[in-house]
Amino acid sequence: MVSASTIALVLAKAQDVAHHSWEYGTVAEALLEWNNPDLSIWSDNPFPNGAVPTLNINDVYALSYVKPFIKTSGNTLIEDGQAGDPASLGISALMIGKSEGQYWDAAGRQKDHLLNDVSKWWNGAISHREGSKPELWADFVYMAPPFLSYYAVATSDLGLLKESANQCKLYHDILAQQSGPWMHIAGDENGDNGLWSTGNGWAAAGMSRVLATLKKGPYNVETAAEQGQLSGMIKDILDGSISMDKDSSGLLRNYLNETGWWGEIAGTSILAATALRMAKLEPENFGQNYVDWAGRKKEAVDSHINTGNGIVLPAVNPMWWKDQNQYNSGSPEGQSFVVMMYAALRDLTGGFE
Ligand SMILES: *[C@@H]1O[C@H](CO)[C@@H](O)[C@H](O)[C@H]1NC(C)=O
Repeated sequence: MVSASTIALVLAKAQDVAHHSWEYGTVAEALLEWNNPDLSIWSDNPFPNGAVPTLNINDVYALSYVKPFIKTSGNTLIEDGQAGDPASLGISALMIGKSEGQYWDAAGRQKDHLLNDVSKWWNGAISHREGSKPELWADFVYMAPPFLSYYAVATSDLGLLKESANQCKLYHDILAQQSGPWMHIAGDENGDNGLWSTGNGWAAAGMSRVLATLKKGPYNVETAAEQGQLSGMIKDILDGSISMDKDSSGLLRNYLNETGWWGEIAGTSILAATALRMAKLEPENFGQNYVDWAGRKKEAVDSHINTGNGIVLPAVNPMWWKDQNQYNSGSPEGQSFVVMMYAALRDLTGGFE
């Protein structure tokens, strides 16, 4: 049993411990999904009249939380060594930007920077890193494509909308493994060919947000082919992860197929959240077995919440994915993913307990 006040504690801890660009963006997404389900991409009508809604920022806590972190000068929304991560603030910038134009303009420069300045992999995938040596991190798929697709709807740009889906496909083509899940990083400096649980969560959840944007914006018909592709790529990650879900903790291992790794709450929660979102979005392709699996992961996570301080553990160290020490002081992304899982369950079934 989990109460709304426990989830509020989990969210408060997420805000406490977030100190990096992608953490702010991910916490803001969790806040929006939990507090303002009508505004998130999962709502029935995220684009009233085909447009980004005009909001009173003070009424939307996710936006007042994240606004001070967003930079309105320069080509990126926050200073960061990575190319992809600042884009995680992009949807918030657009929502704020409907009433404060400098945020809208900043989002535009961020989009241009990604498309035009950042180096690319040989197949055209935009690098997750700044600099001349491109790297593809599964993480990118949560940070940039959801923003690019939202920007595309905001500016009625069908070409960009298709490109946001195409970027997911280009990442898939390099990172996806035979067994379904993706390796974490392609690149000379940080290469990691392991099946990182959280990385698969970033990829599957990011693609599900792009898919929702394609379906719910005004270009549902025009993007049918991209939607089918995204749905299939999400399914491959979920099916592979479910087939590797064998740890006695009931949680997915930090590296999905390596028995030397312990079960961990961050990847488990975001993959369960994605299964639930897909069950709502495409029940014909993601049936009751996905809901049942996610329900079992939710039960496992429930018992890992410290209801005194809101910390959910064990998580993997968010700064070093191969750290064998369990990270028990609150992972910003892990805390956010747990809340996203409860939000997804609530939006599917009406309850989250
Ligand atoms: C896990 O999967 C990766 C990627 O497919 C593979 O390289 C590795 O050998 C697998 N590990 C085990 C223990 O099966």
